[in-house]
Amino acid sequence: MDTRLPIFERPNVRKALEDSSLVGQTLTLRGWVRTKRENKNVVFINLNDGSTLKNIQIVADPTQHDDELFRKITVGASLAIEGKLVPSQGSGQAVEMEAAKIVLLGESPQDYAIQPKKHSLEFLREKAHMRFRTNTFGAVFRIRHALAFAVHQYFHQHGFFYLHTPIITGSDAEGAGEMFKVTTLPFDNPPRDEEGRIDFREDFFGKPTNLTVSGQLEGELGAMGLGLIYTFGPTFRAENSNTTRHLAEFWMIEPEMAFYDLQDNMELAEDFIRSLVKGVLRHCTEDLAFLDARAAEENNQKPQAERSTMGLLERLQFVAENAFARVTYTEAIEILLNSTPHKKKKFQYPIQWGIDLQSEHERYLVEKHFQKPVIVSDYPKDIKAFYMRQNDDGKTVAAMDVLFPGIGEIIGGSQREERYDKLRERMQAMHIPEEELWWYLETRKYGTVPHSGFGLGFERLVQFVTGMGNIRDVIPFPRYPNGAEF
Ligand code: 4AD
Ligand code: MG
Repeated sequence: MDTRLPIFERPNVRKALEDSSLVGQTLTLRGWVRTKRENKNVVFINLNDGSTLKNIQIVADPTQHDDELFRKITVGASLAIEGKLVPSQGSGQAVEMEAAKIVLLGESPQDYAIQPKKHSLEFLREKAHMRFRTNTFGAVFRIRHALAFAVHQYFHQHGFFYLHTPIITGSDAEGAGEMFKVTTLPFDNPPRDEEGRIDFREDFFGKPTNLTVSGQLEGELGAMGLGLIYTFGPTFRAENSNTTRHLAEFWMIEPEMAFYDLQDNMELAEDFIRSLVKGVLRHCTEDLAFLDARAAEENNQKPQAERSTMGLLERLQFVAENAFARVTYTEAIEILLNSTPHKKKKFQYPIQWGIDLQSEHERYLVEKHFQKPVIVSDYPKDIKAFYMRQNDDGKTVAAMDVLFPGIGEIIGGSQREERYDKLRERMQAMHIPEEELWWYLETRKYGTVPHSGFGLGFERLVQFVTGMGNIRDVIPFPRYPNGAEF
């Protein structure tokens, strides 16, 4: 066996299948048994090591190995196999391996959960510790990796600096109050101040802290010196949403750009997503083809009215090639007021200027009216965060949301309020405590500049690219109300 070969010179299944110069050579492969078929003369083992969707076929002569070993080679068992790579005699694969030596690394008893048949996603969610060994989750997490890597590449190429913003913070960046508290105080008997309130002066940080809901505010500080920055980190929201689009712990990418106005911000957001989609179409062809077929099968099982007209690959190509639609919030409300579902009273939530767009409204705009991704801008100030730049009309702010088919909001962003007095006024009106954010205000006092940024929900992007219907299936270990098992 090749254990003394330098680590990166040891071929894996992907290399064995793709590198024709290895044919005729003896090498060692390691992996997990996906299937085993046997008769008196020959044993076929399909081995997968995660490097690729494909398995390699191992052909073994049962008379050359001990029976006990073969009995223990069951689905899920892990093996190291030394053998010669040869052109395959069967159809279905170009090369296969003739096993000379087989070492059983780990047995897999009969009650192994991941049997070679179709398991439901719900079942696999309960086996999240094992689901990496399925074709679907292998493909999803290889694509997730490719997207994460492409995010860094994109920003690096365009002169952005990766800034690490804190996970523990003392502020509520979104002003929505949906935060997980961080404390070392004993919660059965916390210290109290003179008025009987919990005395956070005695807590670890000497003040109340929480897990961050966004790295934006600190990101802005970075942009006010580095120019172009982005964050890419975990984000926490204690909102009690049991939907297919929400997680309590998700990853967000937040670029922040000095000297960008709202138009520049939209240009970046669109170029960014389209580049990422183009990248996976180029680099993840095998996994995407698998997920495309999977999505088509799922789509065919839906009632006719709910079926999507485009396949997964078609949707990705469409996004890669077509410009997004752009409308203001006010125009979007006009469109909705004139829509058939509104006139026929089919929307659950009423439409009126000033409402927060509900997911049924976003879906109508994207899937029915424009039939492409849409950027909605200039929302009413009362439904948006305090830091967004106030427009001259006195009613709206320079906000932008990017809405995607099947997903809804994938990006939320804005031009920031860079005028000290306006920002302070807005904070007061919205009861944002100044003493918590004095440092944020100071950037508007000393050398303030127009600037903008946005947040892309990474899991929502992975959902769009993989076609997975539930956000819990695109993050390795999802966190949601009553869900923190693994
Ligand atoms: O619209 P949001 O709340 O914006 C912000 O947090 C800003 N600070 C971003 C910025 O301007 N730098 O969140 C941004 C995106 C949403 O569009 C959505 O894609 C995702 O984050 N998101 C979630 N994803 C999964 N689960 C949740 N609970 C999410 N909440 C937001
Ligand atoms: Mg938002």
